[in-house]
Amino acid sequence: MSTVIVGGTVVTAEGTFSADVRIDGGVISAVGQGLAGPADTVIDATGRHVLPGGIDVHTHLSMPSFGTETCDDFSTGHLAAAMGGTTSHIDFCIQPHGASLRAALDIWHAKAAGRALIDYGFHVAVTDPRPEVIDEIMTLPGMGVTSIKLFLAYRGTLQVDDAALFSCLERARDAGVLTMVHAENGDAIEHLMAGALGRGETAPKYHALTRPPQLESEATGRAAAMAEVLGAPLYVVHVSCRGALDRVRDAQSRGAPVTAETCTHYLFFTKGDLDRPGFEGAKWVCSPPFREAADHEALWAALRDGTLSVVSTDHCPFRYDTQKVLGEGDFTKIPNGVPGIEERMMVLHHAGVNGGRLTLQQFVSLTATAPARRFGLGGVKGTVTAGSDADLVLWDLTREHTITAAGNHGAMDYSLYEGMQVRGMPVTTLVRGEVVVDGGRLVAAPGRGRFLQRRI
Ligand code: URP
Ligand code: ZN
Ligand code: ZN
Repeated sequence: MSTVIVGGTVVTAEGTFSADVRIDGGVISAVGQGLAGPADTVIDATGRHVLPGGIDVHTHLSMPSFGTETCDDFSTGHLAAAMGGTTSHIDFCIQPHGASLRAALDIWHAKAAGRALIDYGFHVAVTDPRPEVIDEIMTLPGMGVTSIKLFLAYRGTLQVDDAALFSCLERARDAGVLTMVHAENGDAIEHLMAGALGRGETAPKYHALTRPPQLESEATGRAAAMAEVLGAPLYVVHVSCRGALDRVRDAQSRGAPVTAETCTHYLFFTKGDLDRPGFEGAKWVCSPPFREAADHEALWAALRDGTLSVVSTDHCPFRYDTQKVLGEGDFTKIPNGVPGIEERMMVLHHAGVNGGRLTLQQFVSLTATAPARRFGLGGVKGTVTAGSDADLVLWDLTREHTITAAGNHGAMDYSLYEGMQVRGMPVTTLVRGEVVVDGGRLVAAPGRGRFLQRRI
């Protein structure tokens, strides 16, 4: 099957230029002028920008957590992603205690089987770092998995100690695997949470107050120091505050192999959102928590200067009506996590590009090109170049859209961005050359998405 997209403006991380895009067998075969020769399908992109499809490297679909499970599965989550211009994602496969990493991956493969609309990969979260499990890290690249994650918070469920962090960093380095870290000091947080509950402080806002930014900065610096000592690549997930940014920047300035992301919502919300009337604030409960407006500006600056190279979502959706309410009367029981897979590209484009904070090229780099390169998909995904998969989004810079939960496509009953008006949105999404969403309609069948065998 051949397709040619004619008359559009192509955007890559390096430049913006008028060009047609020819696709053969799901792969971009040419980008240039005058390609409008015979093709099975011709797509007119006049007035549109042709962007690489978004790559979201931080999602939690169908993830058991807080006694419940995230409400988007690989079907609803993928529909929402594709509607928002995202064509690939990497989900966190969580190792159940007692299980091998291989068994954990089998569980996650089964979750995706038959449902996937877009392409997907897995990171493995090592939660039970027994010696044989640490040894197993060496086998992950052979299974197409080139990144692991360690949680330094959530004591009793996901958290690992410093000895495990050090050993895993070392073993992952030797295996060519990237170590990702959730950097908050879980032990200190447990202490603060117990104190708050003891004083009868049970409302959602205490979630933020018991996870202060200093405890994220400390854990970030600790992990970065270990990575630097070992020469082991480290990727800090969901950086939320200025102090953590400073630790990342310091490590980078010494040449340590440390990279980092922030997530869309940390650019928009503050801890004040957790203090909304009634129990509404529970919708804004995630970890790390939202900070201050000054942190937003620090994060935007870090996106521009390269300290942060990726914007992901940490899409971890729990409905308000049946799931967030589990924490009424005890903020420590509110499922941690917020949605954003559908909104990421639109709100980042609007606040970033329209807001004069990012160029269109930076937007493409942060949402597609850099995530692909960092996570073993360079040359395959994340750009508009001959030889890359034809994962493309036709973006209309002028189209306006009001974000609402009702207008979104996942399983959620709220959006953090409810009522936000954006200018610029995806109108057509292609995955490996096939149009999956067109004009807000799903036009492909679930089950077509493929597992991404990533390379080291
Ligand atoms: O609150 C969050 N972020 N939940 C998802 C799990 C994690 O920490 O990434
Ligand atoms: Zn996390
Ligand atoms: Zn997460």
